[in-house]
Amino acid sequence: MTEKTMKKYYIKTFGCQMNAADSDMFSEYLISCGYLPTDTPDNADIVIINTCSVRQHAEERAFTEIGDMKHYKAANPNGKVIVVGCMAENLGDEIKKKYQQVDLVIGAKNTQNFPEIMTQSGIIQKGIAAAVAKNDNKISSHITIMRGCNNFCSYCIVPYVRGPEQSKPVDEILKEITDLTERGIKEISLLGQNVNSYFSNNVDFADLLAKVSEIKNIKRIRFMTNHPKDVSDKLLKSISTLNKVCHHIHLPLQSGSDKILELMNRKYTFENYYQLVRKIRYYISEISITSDIMTGFPTETDKDHKATIEAINKIGFDFTYVFKYSPRSKTEAFKLKDDVTKEKKEKWHKELLDLCNSIAKERNTKLIGTLSEVLVESSADTPEINDDKKEFFGKGRDNRGIVFRSAKNLIGQSINVKITQAKIHSLIGEVEN
Ligand code: SAH
Ligand code: SF4
Ligand code: F3S
Repeated sequence: MTEKTMKKYYIKTFGCQMNAADSDMFSEYLISCGYLPTDTPDNADIVIINTCSVRQHAEERAFTEIGDMKHYKAANPNGKVIVVGCMAENLGDEIKKKYQQVDLVIGAKNTQNFPEIMTQSGIIQKGIAAAVAKNDNKISSHITIMRGCNNFCSYCIVPYVRGPEQSKPVDEILKEITDLTERGIKEISLLGQNVNSYFSNNVDFADLLAKVSEIKNIKRIRFMTNHPKDVSDKLLKSISTLNKVCHHIHLPLQSGSDKILELMNRKYTFENYYQLVRKIRYYISEISITSDIMTGFPTETDKDHKATIEAINKIGFDFTYVFKYSPRSKTEAFKLKDDVTKEKKEKWHKELLDLCNSIAKERNTKLIGTLSEVLVESSADTPEINDDKKEFFGKGRDNRGIVFRSAKNLIGQSINVKITQAKIHSLIGEVEN
């Protein structure tokens, strides 16, 4: 078969890294069935839209994409449109009813069964699966070590759409990672809504890090995300002693106000959180700490907002995502009146974002002149610059992205880069000889 006659698939992914990992799995399966990826739905035989429900905005974007598929379906009556993921779980019936162009809906609780569902629905004919060597030149990959969440933070829809927490068996995880190393993967990110509560067959998350460390060709291990109430001393010891484990922890704070934290059902106070950060920095001095902040939660006042500003200043995060509260039906907080006006949410969001970005830039600026050990992931041509060098991208052990130029192909190598410039989201550097 030539490339032209082979069937093709297109995937559009919204949401978090869990969705990205699921999309990789769909992709893998479709390739094994003889499909080729394509970067536009126009010439695809199968279109998959992997959706997110975490905020209303995420759902709106997915609905726009699904709506647009009307044109695709008109031009490709035999093509299949499949909506998967968290919004498919949350609003599956509505999607099926409203959008004739959708052939199949697979909710987030069922995404693991994607291959079976595809053959059962007749979209994929059984028996055509062919092992196709995948050669995607990727250096870094992620795997899901647990699904679902038991925490029920009052604003969050994830426990409802992803279901209860389930840890994947250790052997399965180790096998998946070993398989990935055979394709050249050197860095693995272990994913879960709260990896700190991983537990399977008497193995906790700290033990799992030790086991993954033993896989020879894995050079770096990352993990996300963490719940402040579950970060144990044992885990901090593992991060500080296992040298493949990267020095970065994503530790969502959400709010600096104890009143709001309580209403959010986060199960810690700001003081608990602050003491945890001090302990983390004591054990692992050069660790980067990133966070999520939410603004405009029901009943939030200027005083609560000020407490969050003070908290952010006191901690000094290396990077922070700032979100505006979005009421989600099914959740506990949905019962509270969404009483912070749109204008106020906008204003607080901007203040917090400006503050977090300026702190991130300041902390990055302090690194100018230092060396970072970068695992090089990708390169890009820069036709606008007239030399024989390419632009390379990689990450330091602290998860900071670094861009630098080199004439040599350095992809897959671990090299020292001297930092010369700092931005909010990334650093610029030069290769050290
Ligand atoms: N399990 C992860 C979070 C997944 S959602 C964790 O606890 O770290 C990622 C972020 O989205 C959350 O940390 C929170 O800041 C934000 N978020 C979740 N629900 C939200 C909502 N209803 N409105 C606005 N932001 C929300
Ligand atoms: Fe949502 Fe909280 Fe679970 Fe994170 S820990 S997924 S914020 S319920
Ligand atoms: Fe992720 Fe969005 Fe689902 S954040 S878990 S894709 S609701």
